[in-house]
Amino acid sequence: MTTAWTPSSWRSFDAKHQPAWPDSTELDQSVKILSDLPPLVFAGEARSLTSALGSVANGEAFLLQAGDCAESFDASADSIRERLRVILQMAIVLTYSGGMPLVKVGRIAGQFAKPRSSPTEVQGDTELPSFLGQIVNDVGFTESERRPDPGRLLTAYHRAASTLNLLRAFTRGGFADLTQVSTWNREFVASSPAGQRYAQMADEIDRALQFMTACGVTGVSTPALHEVEFFTSHEALLLEYEEALTRNDSLTDEWYDCSAHMLWIGERTRQLDGAHVEFLRGVHNPLGCKIGPTATPDDVIDLCEALNPDRVPGRLTLIARMGADTVRTNLPPLLAAVRDSGHPVVWACDPMHGNTYTTEGGRKTRHFDHVLDEISGFFAAHRQEGTWPGGVHVELTGDAVTECLGGSDGLVDGDLEEAYETMCDPRLNSRQSVDLAFRVAELLRKRS
Ligand code: PEP
Ligand code: CO
Repeated sequence: MTTAWTPSSWRSFDAKHQPAWPDSTELDQSVKILSDLPPLVFAGEARSLTSALGSVANGEAFLLQAGDCAESFDASADSIRERLRVILQMAIVLTYSGGMPLVKVGRIAGQFAKPRSSPTEVQGDTELPSFLGQIVNDVGFTESERRPDPGRLLTAYHRAASTLNLLRAFTRGGFADLTQVSTWNREFVASSPAGQRYAQMADEIDRALQFMTACGVTGVSTPALHEVEFFTSHEALLLEYEEALTRNDSLTDEWYDCSAHMLWIGERTRQLDGAHVEFLRGVHNPLGCKIGPTATPDDVIDLCEALNPDRVPGRLTLIARMGADTVRTNLPPLLAAVRDSGHPVVWACDPMHGNTYTTEGGRKTRHFDHVLDEISGFFAAHRQEGTWPGGVHVELTGDAVTECLGGSDGLVDGDLEEAYETMCDPRLNSRQSVDLAFRVAELLRKRS
């Protein structure tokens, strides 16, 4: 990887999991329009996130990266607000009960493209292109819905822009104010054991804030108590889209992919000689890279060298997604190799993608116990190697869905039909998410 990098140098490398666009003229037109549209985020914001993640790499903060598996173009303002609300609830639990500064990153405002295990799907006698996320085609099983449509790249940009605008309004405009912590606990969560625990904690925070005001502590008007720093991220899968939103920062003369603050490389596209690694090595955003059970210590070190040759803390987050069964054996050698190489990475645990299975009824699901078990194994592996378990990466929704099993409601196979709404992978519902945050906070506390 010694050739000069440009935003389009990935084009001479093999790009896996790209759609078979039926019409390249239409694709070129969409890309041209995208290239002339304003950036969605600014380089300075991406640098702030790198710096916050640098604290995580140094073991001084924790990362929560969370959101939908595949966002929908039809997501209502209510559903975006509910997703933010549950992430904020998790964040406050981790900050207060875990006793750690928290870096908050959503899988949101751009998480529209999905790699799939097979390029086509067969139902009965019909074979059609797989659903690749709404930035490419639609989820319905008809020829017209499954046809890759380059016009969707533009819809994705506009949906990302309006979602981001709403998130900025919510996080800066009072919704995320710490004096509102108890109002984040909505009925569905509030009536669960985790919700009751949350209410108690919110009460303690309220009383502490009142106490500080009563004592005349003037710092309570600081923005840190009234606004939340919230960043966006998605898998950088569709390289034409990412290239079109890559811009030169006039302050530093460096390239940034301005489609989101943080971009990650998926488990299926992290080949060292592939187009995704080539593209992302050249942009200056903080990067993630999924690390699955087949990765060897050499693979991981090679990725660190390719993606973060200057060893900038916070530049690279390795997102381990091993599976609960194998995390305790597969992860320690990788942690040891990265530690010994001196690469300053953030290690995060994705406890979702290694624990997916299909029920007898044909539903893709994950069990809360397996999710928690993988996180426990992740913490144990770090304890063993003397490294910092830097964060978690989860798929969730703010809605009362029944997609993952277990949790305090003890959801079983038969309950999945009640509210199985995901377009792609099964997500934790808001009760399961807040419950998970308390469990992770306990692991964090035990560690210190
Ligand atoms: C995802 O994060 O939705 C995903 C597809 O994960 P992975 O690349 O780890 O399989
Ligand atoms: Co997923």
